Amino acid sequence: MPDLTTEPSQPVAFPQDRSCPYHPPTGYDPVRATRPLARVTLYDGRPVWLVTGHALARELLTDPRLSTDRNRDGFPVTTPRFAAIRDRTTALLGVDDPEHRTQRRMMIPSFTLKRATELRPQIQRTVDGLLDEMIAQGPPADLVAAFALPVPSMVICALLGVPYADHEFFEEQSRLLLRGPSAAVAQDARDRLEAYLSDLIDHKRKEPGDGVLDDLIQQQQREGRPGRAELLALAVILLVAGHETTANMISLGTYTLLQHPDRLAELRADPALLPAAVEELMRLLSIADGLLRQATEDIEVAGTTIRAGDGVVFSTSVINRDQDVYAAPDTLDFHRPARHHIAFGFGIHQCLGQNLARTELELALGSLVQRLPTLRLAAPPEEIPFKPGDTIQGMLELPVTW
Ligand code: HEM
Repeated sequence: MPDLTTEPSQPVAFPQDRSCPYHPPTGYDPVRATRPLARVTLYDGRPVWLVTGHALARELLTDPRLSTDRNRDGFPVTTPRFAAIRDRTTALLGVDDPEHRTQRRMMIPSFTLKRATELRPQIQRTVDGLLDEMIAQGPPADLVAAFALPVPSMVICALLGVPYADHEFFEEQSRLLLRGPSAAVAQDARDRLEAYLSDLIDHKRKEPGDGVLDDLIQQQQREGRPGRAELLALAVILLVAGHETTANMISLGTYTLLQHPDRLAELRADPALLPAAVEELMRLLSIADGLLRQATEDIEVAGTTIRAGDGVVFSTSVINRDQDVYAAPDTLDFHRPARHHIAFGFGIHQCLGQNLARTELELALGSLVQRLPTLRLAAPPEEIPFKPGDTIQGMLELPVTW
């Protein structure tokens, strides 16, 4: 066990940019070697714990002494942008039990496996329509704009009852919120998104539709909960989390497959491999790489003490490559049991949309590789831009041809 009580002479910064979009930053090599817990330094110089071991991650992500309440004093902040939007209420991901349990119970019926399975034909139609359009217009194409972003965006709009006609507006606000150039820009984007959703909710009160937001409004009218602010906060997280994340998995998943032609050929030849391929891509890419918590009490773990008030960060890309769990962890292998990855998190905050995301990924990636057997990158791989390390990982553009 390394001595974790003293800071290393060369502190490792977190987060860092990846050098290859589907591998953890090489700058994390020292902490990958320090399992299950390491020390890293945030952008403001603050030292926090970095969880790097798979078993410890699952233990701590189910420990109620770790809070996710972003408004607590000293909650770890990984970019100045997030420091500036902290004073807002973040539903689900920003609240602890028992409040979290109440919010989660309200949402569960809309995000079950059964519901995702019922949505399959509609998602397949969306995927087919977008591929038809892209094929009619191309080649070449930017796969992000033509496919990876519109698939989840259309699906979440239909599910929530948000008009897709407004997609350019809310996609832009989400982009600025998650990766705007400054804190002020991110804050303004959130204001605009809240104002838009607040108007939409008012409109739906007068003219109800049949989306999840309409169900929540009805529930509010029947039971008085969710309250007005809570409903708005739920709408924001569902809309933002519902399209950005899956879009990144589609773009980066495609890039990764194109960089692994043998695996791609294997998947084309045997579509039954798709569910396993999606799990393995989720594990390998770990696009939400930095889950944040703060200790509310002293916690004795791994031969050390995490003190009350300490920040605790989970690097999913490092945890999902723990050699004690995954043999040859840096290799893309559709035949390994990848299912226990924590790319959707773990514990009470485990991704609410995971059934939907898995369904979307299977249908989007499966149809893409079948419909375009000659799909390839239209630019040298090292020249294709991807997202910086302080946000959800994915491709900024993906020029492809066929
Ligand atoms: C492949 C795509 C996705 C990835 C990689 C992903 C990843 C994650 C992760 C890692 C968490 C846990 C964060 C933490 O514990 O700090 C999370 C939570 C969450 N995700 Fe996803 N997600 C994806 C798609 C979706 C979709 C499609 C939705 C749809 C609404 C969604 C909604 C949420 C919500 C609401 C939470 C908070 C849950 C809670 O706190 O109870 N996600 N997601």
